[in-house]
Amino acid sequence: MSKTCKIVVVGSFISDITGFAPRFPVDGETVLGSSLKFGPGGKGSNQATAASRSGGEVVMVTKVGTDMLSGIAHQHYRNEGMTDKYVMTTDRADTGAAFIEVNETTGENRIIVIKGANDLITAEEVYAAEEEVASADAVLTQLEASLESTAALKELAAKYRKPFVLNPAPMQEVPEGFFEGVDYFTPNETEAEFFSGVKVTSPESAEEAAKKLLKLGVKNVVITLGKKGVFWTDGKEKALVPTTDLKPVDTTGAGDAFNGGFTVAVSEGRDIISALKFANCVASISVTRRGTSPAMPTREESDALYRRFYGDH
Ligand code: RIB
Repeated sequence: MSKTCKIVVVGSFISDITGFAPRFPVDGETVLGSSLKFGPGGKGSNQATAASRSGGEVVMVTKVGTDMLSGIAHQHYRNEGMTDKYVMTTDRADTGAAFIEVNETTGENRIIVIKGANDLITAEEVYAAEEEVASADAVLTQLEASLESTAALKELAAKYRKPFVLNPAPMQEVPEGFFEGVDYFTPNETEAEFFSGVKVTSPESAEEAAKKLLKLGVKNVVITLGKKGVFWTDGKEKALVPTTDLKPVDTTGAGDAFNGGFTVAVSEGRDIISALKFANCVASISVTRRGTSPAMPTREESDALYRRFYGDH
């Protein structure tokens, strides 16, 4: 399909090594697994892939090492029809890697991620993509690369008045004022609790948490609640948007899929409810497949699910 919008993603590229087993081992236990998947991942790169397959022209700014895993990044972007012009290389750290366990009975996952080169993305390297931000419709990032790169992207987004979507994952302490001015702040339940201090277990508690999160200076709070749907508020209006009925087999990267799809929908000027529904469709399809970036759906697939589940609005 022809591209509908342009998005700049700053963030992580990670090589994912995923083992599937009937259940998670307990500490010190060895469990017999059924299969292994090795491929491109990383929250930033998964978001970029989801956005690209959803119809965005995506420019990914990331960093890899000089090791053999770096080739996976370049190959992945070429396969996806995305530029690798802003995939930087360092000899001071290895390409990021993640060890992922997936419980194939529930589809749940556990991850250890080593950020490696992603942590060395500098503000200057983000500024080098300034003209891409200037001509973009929106920008998207997470917290899996250096905080310096996130801050630099926020600065450029403000300079060119581009919607700035920040998925605060993986959660971590950030300097005071770090989220000030974020247009769309998109935590899951755990991250919402971490940044608000409110335990999020229901739409009601999500609303409580969102009130606190708005005080961080963000303009819209979008809390993904898994099977319970997604809660949104801008402080004046609010909504709970149900998610679809697809059965998950591997939930790894669901949040990334959601954020990539959401940013495309926002870039296309869709209203917030329609954007959240579209993002739900992208995430719902991604979890019916094993893997992370390779599991992201095409625009046609997400549109078809949208029509079947939500109708025409
Ligand atoms: O969100 C899923 C991603 O988190 C995986 O691709 C893995 O790389 C970790 O960073």
